[in-house]
Amino acid sequence: MSLLSWLLWFVPLATSFPAHQEASLKSRNPGYQPGELLFACPAASWPYANVGTLIQPQIPDGELQSILSQVSPANIEATILKLVSFGTRHTLSSQTDPKRGIGAARDWLASQFREVAAASDGQMTVEVIGYEQQADGDRVLFPVNISDVVATLKGTADPDRVYVVSGHYDSRCTDPNDYTNDAPGADDDGSGVAISLELARIMATRKPKATIVFAAVAGEEQNLYGSTYLAQTYKNNSVNVAGMFTNDIVGSPIGQDGTKDPYTIRLFAQGPPSTENKTQSATRLTVGGENDSPARELGRFVHEVASNTYTEMNISVIYRLDRYLRGGDHRPFLEAGYAACRFTEPIEDFRHQHQDVRVVEGVQYGDLPEFCDYDFISRVAKVNGAALWSLANAPGQPTDVFVNTTALSNDSQFVWAPPIGGGTGVVGYEVVWRPTNAPFWTHFLPVGNVLTATVKLSKDNVVFGIRSVAANGYRSPAVFPFPLPTN
Ligand SMILES: *[C@@H]1O[C@H](CO)[C@@H](O)[C@H](O)[C@H]1NC(C)=O
Ligand SMILES: *[C@@H]1O[C@H](CO)[C@@H](O)[C@H](O)[C@H]1NC(C)=O
Ligand SMILES: *[C@@H]1O[C@H](CO)[C@@H](O)[C@H](O)[C@H]1NC(C)=O
Ligand SMILES: *[C@@H]1O[C@H](CO)[C@@H](O)[C@H](O)[C@H]1NC(C)=O
Ligand SMILES: *[C@@H]1O[C@H](CO)[C@@H](O)[C@H](O)[C@H]1NC(C)=O
Ligand SMILES: *[C@@H]1O[C@H](CO)[C@@H](O)[C@H](O)[C@H]1NC(C)=O
Ligand SMILES: [Zn+2]
Repeated sequence: MSLLSWLLWFVPLATSFPAHQEASLKSRNPGYQPGELLFACPAASWPYANVGTLIQPQIPDGELQSILSQVSPANIEATILKLVSFGTRHTLSSQTDPKRGIGAARDWLASQFREVAAASDGQMTVEVIGYEQQADGDRVLFPVNISDVVATLKGTADPDRVYVVSGHYDSRCTDPNDYTNDAPGADDDGSGVAISLELARIMATRKPKATIVFAAVAGEEQNLYGSTYLAQTYKNNSVNVAGMFTNDIVGSPIGQDGTKDPYTIRLFAQGPPSTENKTQSATRLTVGGENDSPARELGRFVHEVASNTYTEMNISVIYRLDRYLRGGDHRPFLEAGYAACRFTEPIEDFRHQHQDVRVVEGVQYGDLPEFCDYDFISRVAKVNGAALWSLANAPGQPTDVFVNTTALSNDSQFVWAPPIGGGTGVVGYEVVWRPTNAPFWTHFLPVGNVLTATVKLSKDNVVFGIRSVAANGYRSPAVFPFPLPTN
């Protein structure tokens, strides 16, 4: 939402609190001013507390504005047209033909990322990594090399903290095992790959504090093979992947019935992590932490830093792993224990994905570039750019975040530890909170550079989180506190 539409949305609310609510607010919060309680979700406005300050969308600073302004629809179009020109990029297609097939696409992408890295003063390195996948009795008919093109822009202050953005460069047509027919894959997922490459180009000459990886992976349509390999490589090497996004089918805002939603992007964010052990998931259920997985906090973070007039987008966070019957490259990262989300266009047109290129009764089928909207894809790139840059320039998230539940109390006491690696660049922390039925954090309360804080608001009625703050004003995603172990 633009700032203006936020205000328009809020203004009627500000004057509509019933008298008894105003009275209740004033008695509990002597400093309360009418109009301070402006929640994104009107139904979620209890308790009427004004502890802290209302959270507004974060506006990009000068450097981020400059990054966003450099996203080029023409570059994105050129990347997608080039990818389409390889005819098919099916994972089982030729790996050696210089013109047609996935091998030619892989080599072209590697050369493009290397060109971009050449401008990085040695900060960005490009690798093609992978393995030989054996026939799997399903969508891999014979042994095939799965290759991921991975460009790593090393962070200047906290290089061991890594954020990944990825798209898949393999494509498919109607039959998932048909590796000879044309499969242009402009939207699915030339669009996502173009975003990885465009952001790599823009960020290569800059100096993020943490590391950012721009990837183009293969084997998505055959069983998420390329992203599984990438996620497991990080996991096996104990890499701290603090956030991952896949852009998959982000090419068009127009549905099959012609409905347009050009200023919205969906972000799919899973609930409770499947990697938690039984004790953790039982505790999560007991304390109402179902909506506060690391993936959801990452989604809320994107909503806060990337919904503004510089990206020109509204982020629709969907509380779900993925669409029904579909899978994506964020899943292997979630399964490796990392926070990961998926960007996908607001309304899909199923005639334009996973379809042989053909005309049926005058209707064109197939994933063709003519159905892509390059301005829309550029705005999605800006959303990713704002999220990645804000993550990489914020401190890491606080660790060992607990709420003290050893005794009954009206207040809420929290304890935590600095981010992994000691908390490079942390100047303080904030407690954030929201009513339990509000989708996004509504309030923040700076508490200083301390490792414990007590907030005059009952933990029974709201959801709390703790986040780190850097001198540049960038904040980490919040961390949901589990109860302090008693022993
Ligand atoms: C995979 O790549 C390696 C190294 O280039 C090659 O030796 C091997 O034959 C390839 N495997 C397949 C199935 O193409
Ligand atoms: C990661 O480690 C597991 C368990 O040792 C192993 O099965 C898997 O092949 C490894 N994967 C990669 C990509 O290193
Ligand atoms: C479950 O995971 C938590 C957090 O990693 C750990 O502290 C605890 O020991 C684990 N419990 C069991 C039973 O594995
Ligand atoms: C979304 O954002 C854009 C630009 O920031 C704005 O013009 C539009 O009205 C917003 N709302 C919706 C529902 O798309
Ligand atoms: C937790 O609260 C209890 C009871 O108020 C207090 O004795 C204890 O010191 C607190 N723990 C921490 C780590 O602050
Ligand atoms: C909680 O607040 C009530 C009313 O303000 C007070 O009477 C009570 O003593 C408080 N309880 C604790 C444990 O602080
Ligand atoms: Zn896809």
